[in-house]
Amino acid sequence: MAATVAVVIGSLRKQAWSRKVATEIIHRAQGKLNCHILEIGDLPLYNEDLDAQPPLEWKRFRTGIDASDAVLFVTPEYNRSVPGVLKNALDIGSRPGNQNHWSGKPAAVVSQTPYKLGAFGANHALRQTFVFLDMPVLQQPEMYIGTVGDKFDSAGKLTDSDTGKLLDAFIAAFAGWIARAAKPESFPDFMKRRDSVATAYVNGDGSPLDSIITRTDPATFLSPGGDAVTGAAVVANRYKADAAHFTKGSTSKLEVLQSANGQLGFWTGIQHAEVKMQGKEGAIPMSLRVTEVFRLEGGHWHLIHRHADMGTSK
Ligand SMILES: Cc1cc2nc3c(=O)[nH]c(=O)nc-3n(C[C@H](O)[C@H](O)[C@H](O)COP(=O)(O)O)c2cc1C
Repeated sequence: MAATVAVVIGSLRKQAWSRKVATEIIHRAQGKLNCHILEIGDLPLYNEDLDAQPPLEWKRFRTGIDASDAVLFVTPEYNRSVPGVLKNALDIGSRPGNQNHWSGKPAAVVSQTPYKLGAFGANHALRQTFVFLDMPVLQQPEMYIGTVGDKFDSAGKLTDSDTGKLLDAFIAAFAGWIARAAKPESFPDFMKRRDSVATAYVNGDGSPLDSIITRTDPATFLSPGGDAVTGAAVVANRYKADAAHFTKGSTSKLEVLQSANGQLGFWTGIQHAEVKMQGKEGAIPMSLRVTEVFRLEGGHWHLIHRHADMGTSK
């Protein structure tokens, strides 16, 4: 199963070359790496005072890192270093206190410049941070793209076949690097992640859940509405559709009894939530009775069964 890669882009410009390069890599990596862009443009500036009650954007970003197997950085060079917006994102992901969300995630860097000379400074300034962030980074091949503006057409499509070949080799090397760096996730570690995935879900962000659900049959979902869906693809679509009903400002906390043995794990307990729904005023408190079963697939735990019923509504 392809690893999930968060792609972090170091430029906020709409027409950024970095975004064009990232989009090209995501396209070329299809089937080998499951890449998605983790946006940084809405992140409030890091301020340690805010960590007691972090902004929702920080939470969304940290959950996005947690839900990824690896991280790809695609960045321009600013003043021979990384753009401030990217450093801000690195700092937010490294906190609070002892919760460094980047820790152990395999990383790779692509840097670009419209000039002949450049991109090296940003690439290596970024690598310097990986030492403290504890990110094992792909060494070879290095990816510095010079004169980037000559390599894409006006529609943003890569026209330079040599760069295309380099990118393909880079993607293959990164996929191999991720596979070597991966060790099976412990079930207790996964369950910490499960809690934050549930919080993202009730805030309308279904993508972290999407990354932990199985794509292999059999899969089942018995919903709080009383209906049941079966089959991995149908279940995945259903979760996606349901997430869209929730909006930001919801809370969720899992009260868990859990166990795992070999390839299978489960938790049963209560999901305490206050959910805000599209088109409805105020938050709706609920305590769902939940049982979820997971299978270890490709070193990661994946949801194969969820049964939730309303239990009590306060
Ligand atoms: C504040 C600033 C500093 C820059 N410093 C460098 C630099 O040190 N080296 C370089 O190659 N280009 C530098 N540039 C030019 C960028 O490489 C160029 O604007 C590039 O298009 C930015 O990437 P993007 O298209 O992804 O936004 C700088 C640009 C800005 C705005």
